[in-house]
Amino acid sequence: MTNFIGLRLPLLCASFSCSCSCSSSTLLLLNKWNKGLVKAYPRRMVLGIGASFLGMASSAFQASNSFIASARINSGPSVDQILKNVEWPEQFPFKDEDFQRFDESSDALFYEAPRFVTHIDDPAIAALTKYYSKVFPPSNTPGVSILDMCSSWVSHFPPGYKQERVVGLGMNEEELKRNPVLTEYVVQDLNVNPKLPFEDNSFDVITNVVSVDYLTKPLDVFKEMRRVLKPGGLAIMSFSNRCFWTKAISIWTSTGDADHVMIVGAYFHYAGGFEPPQAVDISPNPGRSDPMYIVYSRKLPTA
Ligand SMILES: C[S@@+](CC[C@H](N)C(=O)[O-])C[C@H]1O[C@@H](n2cnc3c(N)ncnc32)[C@H](O)[C@@H]1O
Repeated sequence: MTNFIGLRLPLLCASFSCSCSCSSSTLLLLNKWNKGLVKAYPRRMVLGIGASFLGMASSAFQASNSFIASARINSGPSVDQILKNVEWPEQFPFKDEDFQRFDESSDALFYEAPRFVTHIDDPAIAALTKYYSKVFPPSNTPGVSILDMCSSWVSHFPPGYKQERVVGLGMNEEELKRNPVLTEYVVQDLNVNPKLPFEDNSFDVITNVVSVDYLTKPLDVFKEMRRVLKPGGLAIMSFSNRCFWTKAISIWTSTGDADHVMIVGAYFHYAGGFEPPQAVDISPNPGRSDPMYIVYSRKLPTA
């Protein structure tokens, strides 16, 4: 990882209101959408920056070479309120530069060597597994198929969980080969080719753990998710406040946890064909272990 060099960019952002490559107009839009929240919590919703990269510097190389990338939600609106009553602008509000990354070299190169590590701490993993056990179809349900996007050697599914078809899609074959829940896998760079290599209406559930922030064409990917989900199928995007920040999109690394909830909600909204997205905070020990947020939605029965 060459991340220390890149510290300059976000620290600049912390010093000024926002001088990085993310568009400040986009951040303002994030604020406008959720009217009720903005007046009470302007800084959190606008910036989320100062705390984030100071935290990042002191936490470097914790938890498998990822960095803390954003401010925790310590106060302010509860996560489950963030996507309520959002007045989405008519057009997708993000700009091309919002999806640029500090490291624009090939993802294939970055993920060439397997990383048999976990990217969040054990309590956060346990919280995610517990959440999955509540919302997943029962293990071994005939006909059920699951897609784990941006998958690796672990999917954090409940112990012993099985389905006829569990597909992992990720960048590193060695990692995917070792993943015990997968019945098949695909190596594909979604930033090069966002088209999912699956039939329409194939999956009951799509998961994506701590990786939605690496997608540079998220709207294309979310439209594809809608296409391959069965009507009523569930898409669960989970994330914490860590990432390989040189590979995360600039709108992510320049904003905080609450903004991330809004950003992922926007992906669902503008992809179309999904129920209004919802958010839930499953952080196990707020302030003491990695936070864990879920933004989820179901494909509309008519989509
Ligand atoms: C931080 S790891 C998370 C892995 C796994 N989901 C987990 O929870 O441990 C990021 C994952 O995103 C995947 N990924 C990153 N960029 C990708 C891309 N452009 N296309 C497909 N997958 C990508 C990588 O293969 C890697 O496994």
